[in-house]
Amino acid sequence: MKTLIIYASKTGTTEKCASILNKNLKDSTMINLSRIQNEDIDKYDIIIIGTPIRMGIIDKRVKKFISKNYNILKNKKTAYFICCGFNENWKQYYDQNFSKELLDNAIIYDTFGGDLNIDKQKGLDKFIVKMVSKSMDKNRKIEILNKNINNFIENIKEVNNPY
Ligand SMILES: Cc1cc2nc3c(=O)[nH]c(=O)nc-3n(C[C@H](O)[C@H](O)[C@H](O)COP(=O)(O)O)c2cc1C
Repeated sequence: MKTLIIYASKTGTTEKCASILNKNLKDSTMINLSRIQNEDIDKYDIIIIGTPIRMGIIDKRVKKFISKNYNILKNKKTAYFICCGFNENWKQYYDQNFSKELLDNAIIYDTFGGDLNIDKQKGLDKFIVKMVSKSMDKNRKIEILNKNINNFIENIKEVNNPY
Protein backbone atom coordinates (compact mmCIF):
# COMPACT_ATOMS: atom_id res chain seq x y z
CA MET A 1 0.00 0.00 0.00
CA LYS A 2 1.28 3.44 -0.92
CA THR A 3 1.32 5.88 1.99
CA LEU A 4 1.56 9.66 1.74
CA ILE A 5 2.81 11.67 4.71
CA ILE A 6 1.91 15.29 4.02
CA TYR A 7 2.70 18.05 6.50
CA ALA A 8 3.63 21.64 7.24
CA SER A 9 6.17 22.70 9.84
CA LYS A 10 7.47 26.09 10.93
CA THR A 11 10.31 25.18 13.28
CA GLY A 12 10.93 21.56 12.26
CA THR A 13 9.13 19.48 14.92
CA THR A 14 6.33 18.28 12.66
CA GLU A 15 8.89 17.58 9.94
CA LYS A 16 10.96 15.51 12.40
CA CYS A 17 7.87 13.46 13.33
CA ALA A 18 6.95 13.01 9.66
CA SER A 19 10.50 11.67 9.03
CA ILE A 20 10.15 9.13 11.85
CA LEU A 21 6.90 7.88 10.27
CA ASN A 22 8.52 7.81 6.85
CA LYS A 23 11.45 5.72 8.12
CA ASN A 24 9.15 3.22 9.79
CA LEU A 25 6.49 2.72 7.13
CA LYS A 26 6.85 0.75 3.92
CA ASP A 27 6.34 2.41 0.54
CA SER A 28 5.82 5.90 1.99
CA THR A 29 6.37 9.34 0.49
CA MET A 30 6.89 12.54 2.47
CA ILE A 31 5.65 15.88 1.15
CA ASN A 32 6.21 19.29 2.74
CA LEU A 33 3.25 21.54 1.89
CA SER A 34 5.50 24.58 1.79
CA ARG A 35 7.11 23.06 -1.33
CA ILE A 36 4.35 21.05 -3.05
CA GLN A 37 0.62 21.83 -2.79
CA ASN A 38 -0.82 20.13 -5.84
CA GLU A 39 0.05 16.46 -5.34
CA ASP A 40 -2.51 14.04 -6.80
CA ILE A 41 -3.45 12.25 -3.57
CA ASP A 42 -5.78 9.77 -5.24
CA LYS A 43 -2.84 7.53 -6.15
CA TYR A 44 -2.08 6.82 -2.45
CA ASP A 45 -3.88 4.22 -0.34
CA ILE A 46 -3.22 5.84 3.04
CA ILE A 47 -2.87 9.58 3.67
CA ILE A 48 -1.26 10.84 6.87
CA ILE A 49 -1.59 14.56 7.59
CA GLY A 50 0.62 16.34 10.13
CA THR A 51 0.38 19.89 11.44
CA PRO A 52 1.72 22.08 14.23
CA ILE A 53 -0.68 24.00 16.45
CA ARG A 54 -0.17 27.73 16.97
CA MET A 55 -2.62 29.82 18.99
CA GLY A 56 -4.92 26.80 19.00
CA ILE A 57 -5.02 26.62 15.21
CA ILE A 58 -3.59 24.20 12.62
CA ASP A 59 -1.15 25.44 9.98
CA LYS A 60 -2.94 27.40 7.23
CA ARG A 61 -1.31 25.33 4.47
CA VAL A 62 -2.72 22.15 6.05
CA LYS A 63 -6.12 23.78 6.43
CA LYS A 64 -6.11 24.72 2.75
CA PHE A 65 -4.97 21.23 1.72
CA ILE A 66 -7.78 19.61 3.72
CA SER A 67 -10.48 21.90 2.29
CA LYS A 68 -9.25 21.37 -1.25
CA ASN A 69 -9.16 17.57 -0.90
CA TYR A 70 -12.05 17.12 1.53
CA ASN A 71 -14.15 14.84 -0.67
CA ILE A 72 -11.21 12.53 -1.35
CA LEU A 73 -10.09 12.49 2.29
CA LYS A 74 -13.49 11.57 3.68
CA ASN A 75 -13.49 8.38 1.60
CA LYS A 76 -9.82 7.38 2.03
CA LYS A 77 -7.82 5.64 4.70
CA THR A 78 -6.46 8.61 6.64
CA ALA A 79 -4.60 9.42 9.84
CA TYR A 80 -3.75 12.73 11.50
CA PHE A 81 -1.11 13.96 13.93
CA ILE A 82 -0.59 17.30 15.58
CA CYS A 83 2.52 18.77 17.18
CA CYS A 84 1.74 21.01 20.13
CA GLY A 85 3.34 22.28 23.31
CA PHE A 86 0.33 21.91 25.58
CA ASN A 87 -0.68 18.31 25.18
CA GLU A 88 -3.46 18.41 27.72
CA ASN A 89 -5.49 20.36 25.10
CA TRP A 90 -4.94 17.97 22.22
CA LYS A 91 -8.54 16.73 21.94
CA GLN A 92 -9.81 20.31 21.94
CA TYR A 93 -7.43 21.17 19.07
CA TYR A 94 -8.92 18.34 17.02
CA ASP A 95 -12.50 19.36 17.84
CA GLN A 96 -11.84 22.97 16.87
CA ASN A 97 -9.89 22.34 13.66
CA PHE A 98 -11.12 19.10 12.08
CA SER A 99 -14.59 17.99 11.08
CA LYS A 100 -16.16 15.11 12.98
CA GLU A 101 -16.69 13.37 9.65
CA LEU A 102 -12.93 13.28 8.92
CA LEU A 103 -12.01 12.23 12.47
CA ASP A 104 -14.63 9.45 12.55
CA ASN A 105 -13.21 8.10 9.31
CA ALA A 106 -9.56 8.19 10.48
CA ILE A 107 -7.50 5.08 11.31
CA ILE A 108 -6.03 7.11 14.17
CA TYR A 109 -5.52 10.73 15.20
CA ASP A 110 -3.20 11.73 18.00
CA THR A 111 -0.73 14.24 19.39
CA PHE A 112 3.01 13.73 19.01
CA GLY A 113 3.88 16.44 21.57
CA GLY A 114 6.22 19.20 20.48
CA ASP A 115 9.15 21.46 21.10
CA LEU A 116 9.25 25.12 22.12
CA ASN A 117 12.82 26.24 21.56
CA ILE A 118 13.14 30.02 21.78
CA ASP A 119 16.22 30.03 19.51
CA LYS A 120 14.17 28.59 16.63
CA GLN A 121 11.52 31.34 16.77
CA LYS A 122 11.47 34.56 14.78
CA GLY A 123 9.64 37.90 15.09
CA LEU A 124 6.29 37.85 16.87
CA ASP A 125 6.58 34.09 17.57
CA LYS A 126 9.77 34.74 19.56
CA PHE A 127 8.03 37.43 21.59
CA ILE A 128 5.04 35.17 22.30
CA VAL A 129 7.27 32.25 23.36
CA LYS A 130 9.21 34.58 25.69
CA MET A 131 5.98 35.74 27.32
CA VAL A 132 4.54 32.24 27.60
CA SER A 133 7.81 30.83 29.00
CA LYS A 134 7.83 33.42 31.78
CA SER A 135 4.45 32.31 33.07
CA MET A 136 5.11 28.60 32.60
CA ASP A 137 5.91 26.14 35.38
CA LYS A 138 9.68 25.53 35.13
CA ASN A 139 9.18 21.79 35.58
CA ARG A 140 6.81 21.52 32.63
CA LYS A 141 8.30 19.32 29.93
CA ILE A 142 7.56 20.05 26.28
CA GLU A 143 8.80 17.11 24.29
CA ILE A 144 8.10 14.73 21.44
CA LEU A 145 6.04 11.75 22.64
CA ASN A 146 7.78 8.73 21.12
CA LYS A 147 5.25 6.38 22.74
CA ASN A 148 2.42 8.05 20.78
CA ILE A 149 4.45 7.94 17.56
CA ASN A 150 5.14 4.23 18.00
CA ASN A 151 1.49 3.49 18.71
CA PHE A 152 0.51 5.50 15.61
CA ILE A 153 2.96 3.51 13.46
CA GLU A 154 1.55 0.23 14.79
CA ASN A 155 -1.99 1.33 13.88
CA ILE A 156 -0.93 2.20 10.33
CA LYS A 157 1.00 -1.05 9.96
CA GLU A 158 -2.09 -3.04 10.94
CA VAL A 159 -4.02 -1.46 8.06
CA ASN A 160 -1.04 -1.78 5.71
CA ASN A 161 -0.44 -5.41 6.44
CA PRO A 162 -3.36 -6.91 8.40
CA TYR A 163 -2.24 -10.58 8.24
C1 LIG B 1 3.67 31.53 18.52
C2 LIG B 1 3.41 30.13 19.00
C3 LIG B 1 2.14 29.77 19.40
C4 LIG B 1 1.88 28.47 19.87
N1 LIG B 1 0.63 28.15 20.25
C5 LIG B 1 0.39 26.92 20.77
C6 LIG B 1 -0.92 26.57 21.21
O1 LIG B 1 -1.87 27.33 21.10
N2 LIG B 1 -1.08 25.35 21.78
C7 LIG B 1 -0.06 24.44 21.90
O2 LIG B 1 -0.29 23.37 22.44
N3 LIG B 1 1.18 24.72 21.45
C8 LIG B 1 1.43 25.94 20.88
N4 LIG B 1 2.68 26.24 20.42
C9 LIG B 1 3.74 25.22 20.44
C10 LIG B 1 3.93 24.57 19.07
O3 LIG B 1 2.82 23.80 18.74
C11 LIG B 1 5.21 23.71 19.10
O4 LIG B 1 6.31 24.58 19.22
C12 LIG B 1 5.37 22.78 17.89
O5 LIG B 1 6.39 21.86 18.18
C13 LIG B 1 5.69 23.54 16.62
O6 LIG B 1 5.82 22.64 15.53
P1 LIG B 1 6.75 22.96 14.25
O7 LIG B 1 8.18 22.99 14.77
O8 LIG B 1 6.52 21.83 13.32
O9 LIG B 1 6.34 24.28 13.68
C14 LIG B 1 2.95 27.52 19.94
C15 LIG B 1 4.23 27.89 19.51
C16 LIG B 1 4.47 29.17 19.05
C17 LIG B 1 5.85 29.53 18.59
